[in-house]
Amino acid sequence: MTLRTLGSLGDLAGKRVLVRCDLNVPLEDGRITDDGRIRASLPTLDALVRAGARVVVISHLGRPDGAPDATYSLEPVAQRLSELLGKPVLFAHDTVGPAARGTVDGLADGDVALLENLRFNGRETSKHDAERQEFAGELAALGDAVVSDGFGVVHRKQASVTDLAELLPSAAGLLIEQELGVLERLTVEPDKPYSVVLGGSKVSDKLAVIDALLPRVDTLLIGGGMVFTFLSALGHRVGASLLETDQVDVVRGYLEKAEQLGVDIVLPTDIVVASRFAADAEHLVAAADAIEDTPFGAAGLGLDIGPETSAAFADAISGSRTVFWNGPMGVFELEPFAAGTRAVASALADMDGFGVVGGGDSAAAVRALGFRDDAFGHISTGGGASLEFLEGKALPGLEVLGWQR
Ligand code: 3PG
Ligand code: MG
Repeated sequence: MTLRTLGSLGDLAGKRVLVRCDLNVPLEDGRITDDGRIRASLPTLDALVRAGARVVVISHLGRPDGAPDATYSLEPVAQRLSELLGKPVLFAHDTVGPAARGTVDGLADGDVALLENLRFNGRETSKHDAERQEFAGELAALGDAVVSDGFGVVHRKQASVTDLAELLPSAAGLLIEQELGVLERLTVEPDKPYSVVLGGSKVSDKLAVIDALLPRVDTLLIGGGMVFTFLSALGHRVGASLLETDQVDVVRGYLEKAEQLGVDIVLPTDIVVASRFAADAEHLVAAADAIEDTPFGAAGLGLDIGPETSAAFADAISGSRTVFWNGPMGVFELEPFAAGTRAVASALADMDGFGVVGGGDSAAAVRALGFRDDAFGHISTGGGASLEFLEGKALPGLEVLGWQR
């Protein structure tokens, strides 16, 4: 079966349509610092408004404890959504209670409402099928159809993602359709050479994707905190840098496997080493096999890939026809350690082929570093979801919409 899309729901004029979005945006003191996920939700919401549906948006934000918590309220998101849609967005202060019911009852054709954070109710993420199904039933009472468009949560088996779509006519929205198209382009005969750039702090988060990608890619470029586990697997000392000692043997196994498969795993040859974790720390560039040979000795902390590595990574990216990138190259939030991430982003933006930024921290990084979204082939809204897709894992939120690998 293939993914059911919007057209399969027929004429939605006058119908109450629940739209599961992923509006889980980063907030700082109640201010949205990256509205990428809200913007990515607009095409589906616009289409439903134009179709005359009564649009009821539902989403989670953060990981509250199954009870209302003002820090995780979606209210600031309602305001931003209203600005971006160019029309009022009614906000209901609960999810399946009297406020939600009253708000939905008051909608006219083409109106939009946003309900409060789904995760303020513990049944949304419950491990017990019956609890999730009960919550999904209460949500279903608020709609006549469901459009699932929260790509960032399709890897989660949660009431609003899976159970709800079984209770009402359901279909994928335009964002899920687009994201899936990109991932299929990365997995079904990608244009070669195909390079994958992986960063981020923990190698244990990336092992499954490295394993799945090794037979498919030409080059795997490794940056970020997980570099130090690789360097340690090669027998180098890494000072006080991040190191997952329990993964060193596993990583050594991957290096051997890559060699057998003829895949180039490119590791940094130089590292920016700092005296401590701070923007004003003393820092210098050291060879990747001599991290402890700086004046900081064994206290030296690797916080970014060095300039020689940045240039080599940029070259590999420019020479590729397809690139997928997930995870920053260094502590990009601190300016002295942002150069590696900036170099990868620049090369990806300038390449001739298809360059994909894989969600989460990397999407936040490119925006924080001032790149425009349209500089890239695609910026995904789902870091975890894209990785699990590439790992070949089951994605319950897509399967419930008819999709099969
Ligand atoms: C995310 O940001 O990873 C998605 O919104 C899913 O959230 P979760 O990881 O808390 O389930
Ligand atoms: Mg996540």
